[in-house]
Amino acid sequence: MRIDVITIFPEYLDPLRAALLGKAIDRGLIEVGVHDLRDWTHDVHRAVDDSPYGGGPGMVMKPQVWGPALSDVCAPRPDREGPPTLIVPTPAGRRFDQRTAEELAGCSWLVFACGRYEGIDERVVQDAAERMPVRELSIGDYVLVGGEVAVLTMVEAVSRLLPGVLGNPASAQEDSFSDGLLEGPSYTRPEVWRDRPVPEVLRSGNHAAIRRWRRDQSIVRTYHRRPDLLAALDEAALDKHDRRL
Ligand code: ADE
Repeated sequence: MRIDVITIFPEYLDPLRAALLGKAIDRGLIEVGVHDLRDWTHDVHRAVDDSPYGGGPGMVMKPQVWGPALSDVCAPRPDREGPPTLIVPTPAGRRFDQRTAEELAGCSWLVFACGRYEGIDERVVQDAAERMPVRELSIGDYVLVGGEVAVLTMVEAVSRLLPGVLGNPASAQEDSFSDGLLEGPSYTRPEVWRDRPVPEVLRSGNHAAIRRWRRDQSIVRTYHRRPDLLAALDEAALDKHDRRL
């Protein structure tokens, strides 16, 4: 997968090259390009924003800068079959969730456009949407200062789904959310720590009983912490034993 990010704070994206993602880049599984939006300015101040039409607080990012930046970064590449999917992080977007991460993991090229201030002039997204799929996405119901941290979040959630990125592919399948439920508790050695024993069943070697126990823990945890997830679950996804809980 190729990932490009356009931002006025390229250093904010440095963590992309650390740890697991850094390894995926080194191994050629992910290719990352980070671009400074100010490279597309032409004035001495390298201004990327201007005051909003209609008044109000804050500044709006200029279409004359974003337009050429997107044209260049999203231009056809010999190593890509079609245009990228453009992602614009914004608190006014649709919610980014595990299903969105799975959809994006199927794309071969993602371009992220990081807005700051009060956002990007609306016409930039409308114009881009004539040439490529565009998704305006929010990582949650809170407001960040810009899209950079949202990009780090989304890129991490998407990359770990790509073949070969995780050491053990089963980890991605057994995640919280992959079956619509939260993951239950985990334990490692020692068997007793500060007078707290590991649940007996996990030491029993009875794999069917362990599976059942884990499933029960998931359901009970989801019921207490995220009843909204349980309510959204398809009835068919629950077996007879689940419903008894
Ligand atoms: N930019 C600012 N807040 C954001 C959010 N919650 N999600 C995505 N991008 C953002």
